[in-house]
Amino acid sequence: MRIVMIGSGYVGLVSGACFADFGHFVTCVDKDADKIAALKRCEIPIFEPDLDQLVRTGMDGGRLKFSTGLDDIAEADAVFIAVGTPSRRGDGHADLSYVHAASREIAAHLQGFTVIVTKSTVPVGTGDEVERIIRETNPAADFAVASNPEFLREGAAIRDFQHPDRIVVGTEDERAQKVMGDVYRPLYLNQAPIMFTSRRTSELIKYAANAFLATKITFINEMADLAEQVGANVQEIARGIGLDNRIGTKFLHAGAGYGGSCFPKDTRALAKTALDHGIQLRIVEATLTANDNRKRAMARKVANALGGDLHGKTIAVLGLTFKPDTDDMREAASIPLITGLLDFGAKVKAHDPVGMEQAKKELAGIEYCEDPYTCARGADALVIVTEWRQFRALDLERIKNSMATPVIVDLRNIYRPEDVRGLGFKYESIGRR
Ligand code: UGA
Repeated sequence: MRIVMIGSGYVGLVSGACFADFGHFVTCVDKDADKIAALKRCEIPIFEPDLDQLVRTGMDGGRLKFSTGLDDIAEADAVFIAVGTPSRRGDGHADLSYVHAASREIAAHLQGFTVIVTKSTVPVGTGDEVERIIRETNPAADFAVASNPEFLREGAAIRDFQHPDRIVVGTEDERAQKVMGDVYRPLYLNQAPIMFTSRRTSELIKYAANAFLATKITFINEMADLAEQVGANVQEIARGIGLDNRIGTKFLHAGAGYGGSCFPKDTRALAKTALDHGIQLRIVEATLTANDNRKRAMARKVANALGGDLHGKTIAVLGLTFKPDTDDMREAASIPLITGLLDFGAKVKAHDPVGMEQAKKELAGIEYCEDPYTCARGADALVIVTEWRQFRALDLERIKNSMATPVIVDLRNIYRPEDVRGLGFKYESIGRR
């Protein structure tokens, strides 16, 4: 199959490299000439484990190429739209201007039957609009528009692409179903279920999935708050409910609140779309509010661990990215936490294994440290915000001896309270007294 991927950001690049790995011939397109030039040199603009290797293999095999132009659309069986859909300033709606612009540009290059596939996360009805724009721009074009949402997690994107729980394709056009079946054939030989549905249903599945997962996390976070008050253990609660197959153990890890480029943006957009249709999604709205409040409350939790007053105190923060194995800082819990600590009068030192360059753009006025030990030195409290593997087996004895006061606030529950307290630390975590 011949595939063109419009947009070589996170989703476009991972999907393009994985399709090339299946044996398809893929052109990843982007307007950013510097980015394309770098990709041609196999320099990957994002941090995603194993992506560089996959890109190199695809390029060496002649199945993956990069371009700023759209000429390859003429030969393509499928053109994927994988451009950004950021939150629109002011109202939280998804900004579709890049999707619409891409549709117009694609239209002009279409030749022969082509499936246009929205891979970007787009509100219900966007496929209809893409179809309308293409038809208006090029009335003679022979095409169908399908929705094919992605369910990739940053940091695990390649594995998620190669071993999906399911593939969702929204189109009722039989020729488009055949093309999409061929595009994903290598996966369903591995028995990955492919589900065909209507375009609108497919668009909504994506938002419903992210909103449900965000709600699940928020639910366990609230249980954690209650567990702390009543002397119960949230990790055992998560296991105790998660072993019920109807609930499932995943996404029940209590923490500092969810972040990233997807859950916050998509839940906001879903709530807005619903309101536009006269429907109030109260559970999604409650999730949004609870999560925002939770992130803000984390600075207070750190202050309480130090008796309430942070003036003149130094706080060491370990982990800045919104989760491990990414350098992505979007909506990271570290941002409201550190801003709060600074507001409370603390001095902040911070370390992240991969995200410090990105973090510097978001967080000024703090000291960035090269490793966890330098970060902890002289601090009054050590706060673990992102559960990087590198933080799971720290030499706590060494850390304790270098700190001003031995206090750990573990917002990801990566240590066992009895172990850390046994070493002489004051230790606070989430949902475990
Ligand atoms: C999420 C979804 O998991 C993907 O299926 C989806 O494709 C993607 O959004 C998207 O829409 O593009 P991602 O944002 O990369 O993926 O990261 P997650 O692993 O889902 O984590 C999101 C946030 O939830 C992180 O801040 C993480 O720390 C938090 N989280 C996750 C928890 O606090 N507890 C958990 O149990 C799981």
